[in-house]
Amino acid sequence: MSDEKYGLDIGTWNIRLSALSSGTYISEKNVIAVKDRKIVIGYCDEAFEMYERAPENVEVSFPVQDSVISEIDKMQMILEYIFKKINRGKILKGGNFLISVPTDTTEVEKRAFHELVANSRLKARSIYMVEKSVADAVGCGIDIKSPKGNFLVNIGADTTDITVISLGSIVINHKVKIAGRRFDEAIVNAVRQSEQKLIGMKTAEQLKIRLADMGETPEHKEMQIFARVMSTGLPVRTVISSDIVNAAVKEAVMPLIDLVRNTLEKTPPELAADIIENGIYLQGGSASMVNIGALFAKETGIRVKLLKDPGNSTIRGVTTILGSSKYNSLRYVPQEKEYN
Ligand SMILES: Nc1ncnc2c1ncn2[C@@H]1O[C@H](COP(=O)(O)OP(=O)(O)OP(=O)(O)O)[C@@H](O)[C@H]1O
Ligand SMILES: [Mg+2]
Repeated sequence: MSDEKYGLDIGTWNIRLSALSSGTYISEKNVIAVKDRKIVIGYCDEAFEMYERAPENVEVSFPVQDSVISEIDKMQMILEYIFKKINRGKILKGGNFLISVPTDTTEVEKRAFHELVANSRLKARSIYMVEKSVADAVGCGIDIKSPKGNFLVNIGADTTDITVISLGSIVINHKVKIAGRRFDEAIVNAVRQSEQKLIGMKTAEQLKIRLADMGETPEHKEMQIFARVMSTGLPVRTVISSDIVNAAVKEAVMPLIDLVRNTLEKTPPELAADIIENGIYLQGGSASMVNIGALFAKETGIRVKLLKDPGNSTIRGVTTILGSSKYNSLRYVPQEKEYN
């Protein structure tokens, strides 16, 4: 039996697992590839390689959609795969787990994360949950129990979490469906309209990561990709400029900034004063986009705090909470519901 403490952040795009005492950590794509509806032919990063390349009888799927588990069986297989990977091929039974769960969602959807581990072959000794926004705040080094208001924006893959937190409690939390994948979609549409060429979401993501810059005077860049000509259906090598990418992504980011501004307007005045002083904490993988912090600061008039490696903010917080009993009050187990 193992007595290890594990932190788990199951995202739409990435799954992250940390083991406290060994100090190990894994982050892989949260994807699985299944052939003929029954044979698993790839997990995680390896399955992502097959995304948009696989033949028709191979389904490459993301079992978390909009931050909630939509395919529990596939999610369980990925969890066991990643758990074995961190333990060098073994399923070590008896670990203690802390899982981050999305805040703005139903109790049933939150409980699914708990059940995922409880019903797996991991045979956990204990399973606790922590709100993703609370973990994010700890991951930013915020003094969570302080009466000061803090404002956090986690821009992930399918969703962005906008949170106001004070005295260790969530005062406001909205999960909105504008995040990295929406930016990728915007690039797909822009290339279709301006170049009459079709590209996949994976190529769009590469264009975004390599070219996107949300600054006022971005440097001109280009990237060569393969696309399909709409009129002939033939694949061609083509060069996409950063101008197309920046315009498309910026247009997709602006409604998100409007939602952030709306939340700021609805924040109780005493907390709003703290937020103006403390700034906005920008997190999530999409916060790695060049100059996105500058754009948020310009459009909201509030300075932005961007931590290093923003994609790992949640798992960093989960691991910190696991590591000290002073954070125990932030964890919880789902309540048994009575149905009459
Ligand atoms: N350098 C970068 N520039 C722009 N976007 C990036 C960059 N690096 C990663 N991303 C984007 O970050 C997103 C993934 O973020 P993250 O890992 O926070 O998501 P997640 O935790 O899996 O999802 P969620 O929390 O929404 O369920 C992807 O859309 C990816 O394209
Ligand atoms: Mg996330």
